[in-house]
Amino acid sequence: MIEQLKSIAEKALRDLESISTLESLEELRVAVLGKKGSLSEVLKGLGSVPAESRPAIGAAANEWKRKLEAALEARRTELEESRLSVQLEQERIDVTLPSRLAHSGSLHPITQTTRKIIQVFARLGFDVTTGPEIETEFLNFEAVNIPKDHPARDMQDTFFAGPGVVLRTHTSPVQMRSMREKGRWPVRILCPGAVYRCDDDATHSPMFHQIEGLWVDHGVKMSHLKGVLEFFAREIFGSDSKIRLRPSYFPFVEPGAEVDVSCFNCSGRGDDGCRVCRGSGWLEILGAGMVHPRLFEMAGFDKQAAYSGLTGFAFGLGVERIAMLLHRISDLRLMYQGDVRFLSQFRA
Ligand code: PHE
Repeated sequence: MIEQLKSIAEKALRDLESISTLESLEELRVAVLGKKGSLSEVLKGLGSVPAESRPAIGAAANEWKRKLEAALEARRTELEESRLSVQLEQERIDVTLPSRLAHSGSLHPITQTTRKIIQVFARLGFDVTTGPEIETEFLNFEAVNIPKDHPARDMQDTFFAGPGVVLRTHTSPVQMRSMREKGRWPVRILCPGAVYRCDDDATHSPMFHQIEGLWVDHGVKMSHLKGVLEFFAREIFGSDSKIRLRPSYFPFVEPGAEVDVSCFNCSGRGDDGCRVCRGSGWLEILGAGMVHPRLFEMAGFDKQAAYSGLTGFAFGLGVERIAMLLHRISDLRLMYQGDVRFLSQFRA
């Protein structure tokens, strides 16, 4: 029986050498040392062996078992280590590969330009205020001195949202709302927001953005308007920018002006082929003027006070127009198409 045990154990030790996976190692262990393994099977015959030889057989069996277990364990450790090193090799990370860039969003050029402009006027003490985009026909027109028969009210220009209700065609009604709400002066506000007109081509969109400015107080003069706008032009278009005022008409101001800034591309020289100003040296950027006294009346200001030196100036600018000039964007419609190839160029 001892011979039998020895040959089983020796064969198992030999088999062990050619084993190369943890799975077949386990199979071998079960086949030899398992409950129904070859070693156990032999030992089942122990009962029929004479009592005096049993201790020697038992000792030999235990010795072989111990040896086999130690050998199996050693082999297991070896196999586990090599499996791990294969795994490490296969899963190795190549730290020299270029990384995939995370996409990050950014503020829309219109938002960026609006904020930039607000920052400039905030330094002069202007407070930001807003009004509704759906406005009464009264505040959008009458209250800012645009009479019933004014061509801007034409169905072609204005979106009517219902009887007496329009999508505001400019931010000027916010002037009136602010003066009425406060009920007194001084008023020094900036009103950014969307406005709507029945227009649609490469330079006009049915929705665009304006920023309205209003400064009302005793002693506000046209020279203040000019100084404030010059400061604005220098901050936005460069420190050597100049402005010029051309007489113009807006019902809510008197006198009124259109304001041009010297071309930042050709430094106002009006170079022959300048793509920005097309050779004129000037860029039209906004409308402005001295607040028409009728607006103070409409605001409900005390008549006496209103006519004893209360003055003000107002201006209104198109944000898209300024963003297009600054970034040399040729088609307004790019602003609204949401194309990331366009928008990602404005990442700060
Ligand atoms: N509301 C005018 C427009 O939309 C702009 C403007 C505002 C002009 C204030 C003068 C004073 O065209």
